Amino acid sequence: ARADLAGRIRRAVTTVPGFPDPSTVFQDLRGVYATPGLLAEAAAAVAAEFAGDFDHVVAVEARGFPLGTAVALAARRPLVLARKAGRLPGPVASAGYDLEYRSDTVELQRDALPPGARALIVDDILATGGTFGAVAGLVAGQGAAVAGFAALLAIPGLAGAERLAPARVALVAGSG
Ligand code: PRP
Repeated sequence: ARADLAGRIRRAVTTVPGFPDPSTVFQDLRGVYATPGLLAEAAAAVAAEFAGDFDHVVAVEARGFPLGTAVALAARRPLVLARKAGRLPGPVASAGYDLEYRSDTVELQRDALPPGARALIVDDILATGGTFGAVAGLVAGQGAAVAGFAALLAIPGLAGAERLAPARVALVAGSG
């Protein structure tokens, strides 16, 4: 069933070469979200894979919000939103990071996770791992543990999972 789920997700993804810049291939997940039940099934797979190992879900703005929300609902765990700079009222912790062709900043409210929490960090796509790494730093900075990372798919050739090792990385539809 899991292999079938991966295939159905992969078939629902379309790629748009040259967006948003000439050297990027945009992974358009609209077909995943437009397929009734598919996001819920992906979320259930993630929740099952990390069952017993996490008690909070941290979803990364913006494209991490659909899967992150769905995982929190599936696992009946609290949902925490990691947001881009300037969106959250303080006090916040901030971490800068580099993506393929730009840099950005992500933030968490300082009391968003209780000490000792075990956070599963969720996004839509793993590329370089810079975003996940920055959010993991914020989680650890709050005295919480990183249970692992989950995304729908990874971009091959960017070594994102290797960069995050030895942390557990679950990719519902595998790489690319
Ligand atoms: C994309 C994607 C991931 C991140 C992956 O988000 O949704 O969050 O890049 O790249 P990385 O593994 O190299 O860090 P983006 O920063 O474009 O922001 P958005 O979700 O707000 O569109």
